[in-house]
Amino acid sequence: MDNSFKFKLVILFSLSIITTASELIINIENRNKTSLNGKWNIIIDPFENGYYDYRYKPHENGYFKNIKPKKKSDRVEYDFDISPTLQVPGDWNTQNDKLLFYEGTIWYKKSFDYNKNQDKRVFIYFGAANSNAIVYLNGEKIGEHTGGFTPFNFEITQKLKEKGNFVIVKVDNKRHAEGVPTLNFDWWNYGGLTRKVMLVTVPETFIQDYMIQLAKGSQEKIEGWIKLNGKELDQEVAIKIPELDIQRSFKTNKEGFAKVSFKGNFELWTPQNPKLYSIVISSKTDEVTDKIGFRNIEVNGREISLNGKPVFLRGISIHEDAPLRSGRAFNKEDAKILLNWAKELNCNFVRLAHYPHNENMVRVADSMGIMVWAEIPVYWTIQWENKETFINAKNQLSALITRDKNRASVILWSMANETPLSKLRLDFIKKLVQFTRMKDPTRLITAALEIHYKDKNTVIIDDPLGKELDVLGCNEYIGWYDGPPDKCDNIKWETIYNKPLIISEFGGGALYGFHGDTLTMWSEEYQENIYKHQVSMLKRISFLRGTTPWILKDFMSPRRHLPGIQDYFNLKGLISNRGSKKKAFYIMQNFYQEKMRAEQ
Ligand code: GCU
Repeated sequence: MDNSFKFKLVILFSLSIITTASELIINIENRNKTSLNGKWNIIIDPFENGYYDYRYKPHENGYFKNIKPKKKSDRVEYDFDISPTLQVPGDWNTQNDKLLFYEGTIWYKKSFDYNKNQDKRVFIYFGAANSNAIVYLNGEKIGEHTGGFTPFNFEITQKLKEKGNFVIVKVDNKRHAEGVPTLNFDWWNYGGLTRKVMLVTVPETFIQDYMIQLAKGSQEKIEGWIKLNGKELDQEVAIKIPELDIQRSFKTNKEGFAKVSFKGNFELWTPQNPKLYSIVISSKTDEVTDKIGFRNIEVNGREISLNGKPVFLRGISIHEDAPLRSGRAFNKEDAKILLNWAKELNCNFVRLAHYPHNENMVRVADSMGIMVWAEIPVYWTIQWENKETFINAKNQLSALITRDKNRASVILWSMANETPLSKLRLDFIKKLVQFTRMKDPTRLITAALEIHYKDKNTVIIDDPLGKELDVLGCNEYIGWYDGPPDKCDNIKWETIYNKPLIISEFGGGALYGFHGDTLTMWSEEYQENIYKHQVSMLKRISFLRGTTPWILKDFMSPRRHLPGIQDYFNLKGLISNRGSKKKAFYIMQNFYQEKMRAEQ
């Protein structure tokens, strides 16, 4: 191997240390943290003038340097401190009309002081930034992250000063063909620092990650692990569940990893009784508390079993659109409103489409007893042959599982939505499935497949991807994109798989308050009629074990242009953008009521 190649390898390795995010720290909300939320100064930079020079080469002295004129003859053509501001967390599109359709770069700057503690380490944590973020601290690049819906953190201990720190983030939401998602998708491409930004202070050796869940198939045996990060990796760690008088300790190996296993007489988490235990995970130098529920989820043939009992997943699909204002949802209140609407619909399940939603959603679902389908945006036709695209998808999946693997509410990981059949696509998703089984053997794996007709009136589920999945998801729009509503009445459903089916999307659009007869497009009566025919068809599918109609609430989409009706909203919500229930809402509510009664 010649020297120049060796030299390149060293550079690559050191660059990879600088640029990629450090391993994700979980359970941020129960850590010692300082919020950087609030107003940030911004510079809207469509030509990325703050990053590239006029030869379109990366600038050494880009805006990340936050340069100030020192003397009156100095020429500096930007100044964050007198620039407009945006609220963080929050998308930029709905905070400023000029930015509603904006796709490009916006520079964010936040100044802060910090009381350094010599024995502590500090990480800067982002709940999410859509979709590519380059992070600088005090003029130095500390890292980069791609993927608009997953958390990331960088260590900044050595780079912090007591006074006058400034963090600058170049956020860019431009779409890319090789991206995940790719160029085309049916939701608003909200840009910005869409979730919380925190400084997290931890001991030199700290508890970075852990998994504490029931072993597959068991209702009493916990199997998991604890991972330390720091210098003192070889030490004792412990798990305490005070309420059950459980206290167990384990030894880490020299990588700071300890397998944990112990038995207990647990009150199992169910939608009716979403029992969460207060858990204390400790090591010699660190202690983290968490609230974790224990439940078992499995498939047996065509049954989905929760704690050994067959369950029907009475669900609804949800986008991460804020409930009573436009823009991205991000806080606990948003989550409570959205999930309470789902509860009103008699749901015990939600599909969080089409990307990882904020952590508040799954933590509120944990406490409200709502089971969750979580998903990554492998959506429509991404570049299956592109290695970077695969790494991007896998990184998003890895971050999602890392963040939410201790949430009892999360029962399904979904790999993809409406992806076209091909060998490349199958291989791509199979690798994601294998990765998921390795990373979390306790949950079920699914994907939203497209329907396919065997003959005029027979839908058959025979997508080869079905073989890799535990639960089949299938999107169908019979009565909307596919024939009139009464087409449902003659449709038979078949499957080549002995597996449970979730109809992961169905429905149609209606403008709240617009009324007409059942044939009047966009009227509530038209939508209601679709639901009536759909529900009677659903009752005839013998292997159906769940439904998540599309969708809980009208949401913004750049693909919906009908003036006076859509005005950039997808109107398939059962609830309007301002929280009003459409007639179809009650069709679903009654169907689920019947299901609940049948289960009693
Ligand atoms: C698709 C897709 C959704 C989309 C919906 C629609 O099935 O998965 O993202 O919003 O159809 O057309 O409304």
